[in-house]
Amino acid sequence: MNIDGKVIAVTGASSGIGEATAELLARHGAKLVLGARGGDRLDRVAARLSAAGHDVAHMPLDVRSRAEVQAFVDLAVERFDRLDVLVASAGIGPIAPLDSLTVDDWDDMIDVNLRGVLHGIAAALPVFGRQGTGHFVTVISTSGLQITPNQAIYAGTKNAVRTIMEGLRQESQGRFRVTGISPGFVRTNFTDSMHDPEIAAAIRQRMDEIAIPPDAVAASIAYAIGQPDTVDVGDIVVRPTAQD
Ligand SMILES: NC(=O)c1ccc[n+]([C@@H]2O[C@H](COP(=O)([O-])OP(=O)(O)OC[C@H]3O[C@@H](n4cnc5c(N)ncnc54)[C@H](OP(=O)(O)O)[C@@H]3O)[C@@H](O)[C@H]2O)c1
Repeated sequence: MNIDGKVIAVTGASSGIGEATAELLARHGAKLVLGARGGDRLDRVAARLSAAGHDVAHMPLDVRSRAEVQAFVDLAVERFDRLDVLVASAGIGPIAPLDSLTVDDWDDMIDVNLRGVLHGIAAALPVFGRQGTGHFVTVISTSGLQITPNQAIYAGTKNAVRTIMEGLRQESQGRFRVTGISPGFVRTNFTDSMHDPEIAAAIRQRMDEIAIPPDAVAASIAYAIGQPDTVDVGDIVVRPTAQD
């Protein structure tokens, strides 16, 4: 695994896929910078990894703020002198049918899932450009691959990210690696971001039935990062075998 000693920043690191990814990358010797909004949960993850002897910095981070994402990337460079990988896992899914007109939730999904990723690109690109190397790993979703009712805006944000990642890869002219990870049902706290109780309960039930653990997604992220620098893993879909 080509991970030992790499400086890796993870958004959404306080829970679910981001947390599992931070733990796995730490075990492979990465130096980590962790961010999420919820200070306490993030503190606990960082404290646990630090107590286990890993090199970890962390800060409260709302990816909706360009300035905060810039400060997050700056923290990596100040603390570790470089940034090798930006893993963008922060995301929300307050899904609902379009005619329920939950327009504030549409805005939130655009701000977190799409604009938040763009803020990461804007902050990391100059660093990667100076270094001549870097790796964007972004957590997308199978929701963008198989469009289902209630998920139009969520899937739209994810597919916008998918498109932008491919553009980024083509523009990088061989300097940066770009990886999109599309998980299916994963057992995390993701339904906490859903405001419609019936939809949240239905998703939670489906998670109980078939979801894979976040470690499975973390393993796919570690696989992509761990390849030799000349190998760019473009897209990984990782979902329950039982998922439609
Ligand atoms: N679980 C699934 O079935 C599934 C399937 C496909 C794709 N995904 C994607 O996987 C990613 C991770 O989700 P998860 O399943 O691990 O859910 P999760 O357990 O709810 O974790 C989401 C993480 O994102 C953080 N976050 C949310 N809003 C944020 C913001 N504005 N700024 C910074 N951090 C923010 C959360 O922490 P705070 O709330 O403290 O900020 C938390 O650390 C998301 O992009 C999601 O779309 C999930």
